[in-house]
Amino acid sequence: MKTLLLLPGDGIGPEVTAESRRILDALALPGLTVSEGLFGGASIDAHGVPLTDETEAAALASTAVLMGAVGGPQWADVSYDRRPEAGLLRLRGAMNVFANLRPARCFAALASASTLKPEVVDGLDILFVRELVGGVYFGEPRGIETLPNGERRGFNTQSYSTHEIRRVAHVAFELARLRGGKVCSVEKANVMESGVVWREEVTRLHAERYSDVALNHMYADNCAMQLVKAPTQFDIILTDNLFGDLLSDLAAMSTGSLGMLPSAALGEAGTPGLYEPIHGSAPDIAGQGIANPCASILSLAMALRYSLGAPEAATRVEAAVEAALDAGARTRDLGGQLTTRQMGDAILASLR
Ligand code: NAD
Ligand code: IPM
Ligand code: MN
Repeated sequence: MKTLLLLPGDGIGPEVTAESRRILDALALPGLTVSEGLFGGASIDAHGVPLTDETEAAALASTAVLMGAVGGPQWADVSYDRRPEAGLLRLRGAMNVFANLRPARCFAALASASTLKPEVVDGLDILFVRELVGGVYFGEPRGIETLPNGERRGFNTQSYSTHEIRRVAHVAFELARLRGGKVCSVEKANVMESGVVWREEVTRLHAERYSDVALNHMYADNCAMQLVKAPTQFDIILTDNLFGDLLSDLAAMSTGSLGMLPSAALGEAGTPGLYEPIHGSAPDIAGQGIANPCASILSLAMALRYSLGAPEAATRVEAAVEAALDAGARTRDLGGQLTTRQMGDAILASLR
């Protein structure tokens, strides 16, 4: 028996997750139980905390978790460690999902939806492998203190150790063998010690086990520029938690919209995966029913492939999204007029 826990969350999270739920129901996979929980601001409103112990335990006990998005202005004044985003970091840490796969693919039908020229993004197919449970997001010490002179000081710590780098680099190299055979490792070894160790450990692992994969190194600032100049040069981009967050949002625009990018966060074999669109709760359009559900639906496809043992269903869902786009289905962010529900309808109609 397999279990999928849905955590729709806040803002457009529930709107886009509802469309994934409809796809899931249409697939009618045998032996799959689906349940739902409160997460983020919705959980703060009901229970005072963004992630209850019960919900965390349910996530750890499930086969996969599909999340919507968390956060919003309603909870901006909550103390830092009780904010919706802190709940998400706690969940990622508890699940120990250290490898965050963020595929940025430009569907042929969307080449002209990008703010970059179609010829620049045509054929784009990048897989970000972002380290997700370490680096400056989790480093200690961290905090806000008041100095003797009355000034305030906020501080965070960026650190990466050998095993943290090697386990995520393994994932990147293994996936490269199944794709274009290239890994670009991104850090700032020119100014950060954690980047020096990152570069050296990736180089060492490559020499030990993956010399068949083409490896190059790039500074994160240059990578940002290259992603706008010539994004199709990349196959896999392996990077840390913070750079991976920034660069994947940047690359999303090459695909037409932030609303197109799914993700899979994976830990050790046999542990549950956490699946989520890379976008947030989009307070500016929440409640209007116009969000693009593709990122959520494509995240469901990743869950089917990587956790739920249903790769054929995953391929069917991805093909349905592509067919709906080929047929001209577009939400507002893609330059169209469809509502979230109508986009879901178009994808459902294409599901074979
Ligand atoms: P955002 O990703 O929510 O929105 C950025 C822009 O992209 C907005 O203009 C929004 O309307 C648009 N957008 C995002 N997803 C879209 C979709 N599916 N369809 C159409 N348009 C879409 O980023 P933000 O505004 O910086 O953050 C809002 C809140 O979300 C914050 O509280 C932030 O912390 C949180 N957040 C959560 C997650 C997550 O839960 N994984 C990710 C990012 C941000
Ligand atoms: C993302 C988000 C999160 C992150 C926030 C909401 C904690 O931006 O998943 O990309 O920074 O990882
Ligand atoms: Mn982000």
